[in-house]
Amino acid sequence: MNCIKRLRSLLTRSSPKQFPRAFTSSTDDKVDETRQWPRKIFSGIQPTGSLHLGNYLGAVQKWAELQNSGEDVTYCIVDLHSITVPQDPETLRNNIIQMTATMLACGIDPNKSTVFLQSTVKEHTELNWILGCLTTMARLRHLPQYKEKTQKMKEIPLGLFLYPVLQAADILLYKTTHVPVGEDQVQHIQLTQHLGNLFNNRFGTTFPDCHAIIDKKEAARIRSLRDPSKKMSKSDPEVKSCIYLTDEPDVIVEKIKKAVTDFTSEVTYDPENRMGVSNLVAIHSLVSNGKSTEEICKEVQGIDTGKYKMVVAEAVVEHLKPIRTKINEYLKNPSELVYILEEGREKAQGIAEETMAEVKQKVGLGANLSEFSVLKTISKKM
Ligand code: TYM
Repeated sequence: MNCIKRLRSLLTRSSPKQFPRAFTSSTDDKVDETRQWPRKIFSGIQPTGSLHLGNYLGAVQKWAELQNSGEDVTYCIVDLHSITVPQDPETLRNNIIQMTATMLACGIDPNKSTVFLQSTVKEHTELNWILGCLTTMARLRHLPQYKEKTQKMKEIPLGLFLYPVLQAADILLYKTTHVPVGEDQVQHIQLTQHLGNLFNNRFGTTFPDCHAIIDKKEAARIRSLRDPSKKMSKSDPEVKSCIYLTDEPDVIVEKIKKAVTDFTSEVTYDPENRMGVSNLVAIHSLVSNGKSTEEICKEVQGIDTGKYKMVVAEAVVEHLKPIRTKINEYLKNPSELVYILEEGREKAQGIAEETMAEVKQKVGLGANLSEFSVLKTISKKM
């Protein structure tokens, strides 16, 4: 009898975490394709110390533009993604601070954007698990980044395999509609769309369809300076393949001087047939306040690629100079950077908690008594 009383009182007592009304739809909910979602931008970057020109021109420059046009933007430093390959803990911590300083120096303003560190919002890993249970190994095994990264590995860490699922969790957790990224991330956004749809079909409309934002074709894939058939990447063992935002001017000049082009001396923009020189024209255009690749080629008509490299180097050095100065300024006050990440965490956490409450309720997880239909039946009989 006591037990029945206790059950009745538990069932009538308001539950500690009430779900907002919109979240109480049951699993037989239909997918509502007409639902309008507010536009929400989310993107992420691994804390690898400094940014390279590919990260900056392909992603972060666009992030600042979106922020300044008044969009609802959230940018995440994805430290959990970084540990899919071995990291020295102290270096990782320093890199997180360095990345925060770099993002601010590139124009990300914490008063307009939510800037936070992935590992401080535990809901990312929770959703990662749930989405992991929805996807198949076959779907993940074929992703090109996974194939590329594991090509030379004997033992593949499970985290590297799950990497895109965690990325999907990052995106879906904030009900993101648009993700500004470089071309190398497109398949990961497609997987996110797939997992979001799968969840919606199984458990009822929860996530909007998300889309990659890649609006400047020439920025989508900045190429290695040493092997223009590959993308510029920090993991390239060839140091001269990649320009970092913190490189000294003479280092930048040296790297661009050594950039691989071809035997034609004229400067043209023809990314399919002349990848090397076209990569330089693309970089030049992107650091030149909206000058198009055609305008650049017209401007430098008559000079050969050797001399043109010096023109590009000068433009890159000039563009990066104020950013480098700002990075050093921000790094003088690391506690301010930690504070910014903490403020960002608070904002992100609120949204993440709401989404996870909804997700868990729809999936049938958790022990919220008011949700147990079997107990409701007992209580009616009592
Ligand atoms: P990451 O850290 O490798 O790169 C960050 C951003 O830089 C872009 N990028 C490039 N763009 C043009 N040319 C290049 N050579 C180049 N190299 C890198 C990337 O496309 C990316 O936009 N998995 C992601 C991080 C991530 C994420 C997310 C992104 C985790 N969760 C959620 C978006 C949404 C990555 O490793 O990016």
